[in-house]
Amino acid sequence: MDLSTTIANVRFPTCLMNASGALCVTRDELESLGRSRSGAIVTKSMTPAFRQGNPEPRYYSFSGGSINSMGLPNLGYPAYAAIIPTLRRFGKPIIASVAGLSPPDFLEAARAVTAVLPDLIEVNLSCPNIPGKPQIGYDVEASRALLLQLKDIITVPMGVKLPPYFDPVHHKATARMLQDVGVDFLSLINSVGNGLVVDPDRERVVIKPKGGFGGLGGPMIKPVALANVRAFWKLFDGRMPIIGTGGVVSGTDAFEHILCGASAVQIGTALVDEGAEVFQRLEKELGELLQRKGYASLSACRGTLQEL
Ligand code: SIN
Repeated sequence: MDLSTTIANVRFPTCLMNASGALCVTRDELESLGRSRSGAIVTKSMTPAFRQGNPEPRYYSFSGGSINSMGLPNLGYPAYAAIIPTLRRFGKPIIASVAGLSPPDFLEAARAVTAVLPDLIEVNLSCPNIPGKPQIGYDVEASRALLLQLKDIITVPMGVKLPPYFDPVHHKATARMLQDVGVDFLSLINSVGNGLVVDPDRERVVIKPKGGFGGLGGPMIKPVALANVRAFWKLFDGRMPIIGTGGVVSGTDAFEHILCGASAVQIGTALVDEGAEVFQRLEKELGELLQRKGYASLSACRGTLQEL
């Protein structure tokens, strides 16, 4: 089964790829993604300077999913600007994720990484884990101002990674802003921020930063992710390429994202749990499912979710 996909005129050999944040910080991790069946290499969100991130323990996996408060640990953009050209030998698209603790940080990182021409740039407006820094994606006008400046700098297709929205008013206002800015694709969603996981035996939180509050991922957030994919798919009449992220641990989960309108799917928690072999398993499961259902291609079922 051909699982290739195209986003903003960039062709991906398969629609399954890593989510920014999962095993994509170091050169070794990025090269391992290059050797794997991942359909792209997505970098960790980069800031101007190296960041150690939040104190450990800062990631915890459990039966329902995961909670993290990594705090944007990354090598800093000069390192990624040096690594990205060497990743081209793997022959798959490279998505550079850009973040910052302030608007000037975003602009600086975007300018530097644009110069080495990754295939696409994903602007991360939704990291929930920096103490004292709210997620910009929840402020429509601040997002608009930042994205308009980034659009002037970034010369490759520019996408935005958004936090989950829980009310149609916010979906609508955000979609209008994204349309005005002219973004090229969306990544939906980042982790569901500021959740709290409790260990009842030890009667304490499971991660150290922010008193135990962190971003939730994995199976428990799939319905929230699907709702956001579906809402934006409908608001853009199916014309905005969407990368669905959240709760994909099986081929069926990936299929659900595609039914809701996703053109590709990113894997976070399952990649951390299983390692890069996860892509091969998901590719097999998704391919077999599509075949069993009689679909000849991904595009045949994209967005076709039925309503009652
Ligand atoms: C983190 O580094 O804290 C996670 C990144 C993100 O959620 O954007």
